Amino acid sequence: FNYPMPANEPVLGYAPGSAERAALKKAIADAKKKQMEIPMYIGGRAVKTGKKVEIRPPHELSHTLGFFHRGEDKHINQAIDAALKAKSGWEAMPWEDRAAIFLKAADLIAQKYRAELNAATMLCQSKNPYQAEIDSACELIDFLRFNVHFLSEIYRQQPNDAPGVKNRTEWRPLEGFVLALTPFNFTAIAGNLPTSAALCGNVVVWKPADSQVYSAQVVMKILKEAGLPDGVINLIYVSGQKLGKIVFAHPDFAGIHFTGSSAVFNTIWKTIGENISRYKSYPRIVGETGGKDFVMIHKSANVDEAVTALARGAFEYQGQKCSAASRAYIPSNLAEKIKAKLVATVKTFKMGPVDDFSNFVNAVIDEKSFDKISTYLKNAAKDRKASILVGGNCDKSAGYFVEPTVIEAKDPKYVTMCEEIFGPVLTIYVYDADKFEQTLDLVNATSPYALTGSILGQDRAAIALATEKLRFAAGNFYINDKPTGAVVGQQPFGGARASGTNDKAGSALNLYRWLSARSIKETL
Ligand code: SER
Repeated sequence: FNYPMPANEPVLGYAPGSAERAALKKAIADAKKKQMEIPMYIGGRAVKTGKKVEIRPPHELSHTLGFFHRGEDKHINQAIDAALKAKSGWEAMPWEDRAAIFLKAADLIAQKYRAELNAATMLCQSKNPYQAEIDSACELIDFLRFNVHFLSEIYRQQPNDAPGVKNRTEWRPLEGFVLALTPFNFTAIAGNLPTSAALCGNVVVWKPADSQVYSAQVVMKILKEAGLPDGVINLIYVSGQKLGKIVFAHPDFAGIHFTGSSAVFNTIWKTIGENISRYKSYPRIVGETGGKDFVMIHKSANVDEAVTALARGAFEYQGQKCSAASRAYIPSNLAEKIKAKLVATVKTFKMGPVDDFSNFVNAVIDEKSFDKISTYLKNAAKDRKASILVGGNCDKSAGYFVEPTVIEAKDPKYVTMCEEIFGPVLTIYVYDADKFEQTLDLVNATSPYALTGSILGQDRAAIALATEKLRFAAGNFYINDKPTGAVVGQQPFGGARASGTNDKAGSALNLYRWLSARSIKETL
């Protein structure tokens, strides 16, 4: 079964008067009327516990969308049991049939559930329609289709025979179950982490972030409709700590597919280490974690391009992308022009609820995040080592709104140049335009992360130097572009250092981690 490299799903524009805009507006209005009740899915059954957790849009706290059912310890155990029960049937299914389920799910999103899934992402994750379309429709469709292609390529790889010897590689799934622990910020990532492991023949326990339960459940519904057998993916809404205690002590725990903070990933890694003698096999630990992503501007850069890269890279989806530009190095010769244009651009951004499609900026995800970001901004406002060029205000009376903010740091090691904030905050540092090479060393040494970064400039020698010197500073490196928006099949995504295991989402490298090969030699 050869599944050729697919084309990326075309991104719809949602122009005023378009059919897709009308469908999306209707899906939002329907969802807001519904008062939904969201169950967990264990062994294919919808499970309601009666322990209700309310869902409110981060941009409209006065509105209740409905609630989800919180699970307890017993549901974690039930999810593991259901996964293990489904394992032999799922493994035995011809892989073409497994693949067909995920391809069908991709088509269902493209043709039937696009508006519903985008509406869910907009409402529960406070994402504007254009960002939702790129994320939950197109990127998730791409993950589902491209992974089938990558796996078909992997399965074809076979070793040489020799005289009198027939050799074969059997691409087995892992022995046990996989835990998918997924983030709020991308519905596509949340959908990819369980499905990529499942496509390879694994069974999965999936716990989404509480703030993403609504869109996760829409994805689960689509997978069920596409024919996913009961128990292959089990979706539960439980406390992370309870989950960790049970899952990481289980002898059949075979791997974790994680996207979230470095701090949580470190704790997971340690806990797995402490439990290592309990497992049948060494678990696969795959994580994409934090970032402190840079934009480095050379003195030869085009000012307009630089400002676009900064504004879009830092402020799309309120800077809540692990790839978001959060520190920028501006050459002294262009500093005044870039600062003036950037401030003017940021001032044009409208902020408000997702229902009004002209709002470029919506709310940040929750109160904890709001409080963390506003503390950084309050401190910057008081600090002589920093000045706020635009933004800086926060208001949580109607929703968790944080103005897109540009801070200028006088010290390149100022706290907001170094720490991940995960919000709409860009810190810039003006460097001596003639000290490009020294500044590259500074970029490399300023943060423990290495997820994404950009270099902008027209001078090819400068770009070559930056590409070489920043070799380990980013897993995704962009030349003359913003550091966000990796496209499946084009820029496999992930970083090393404190940003994760760099097992490139949307590539064969990731799928290899969910396979445990057996080499079979037959002497003829
Ligand atoms: N893949 C996203 C991006 O490139 C981040 O997770 O922006």
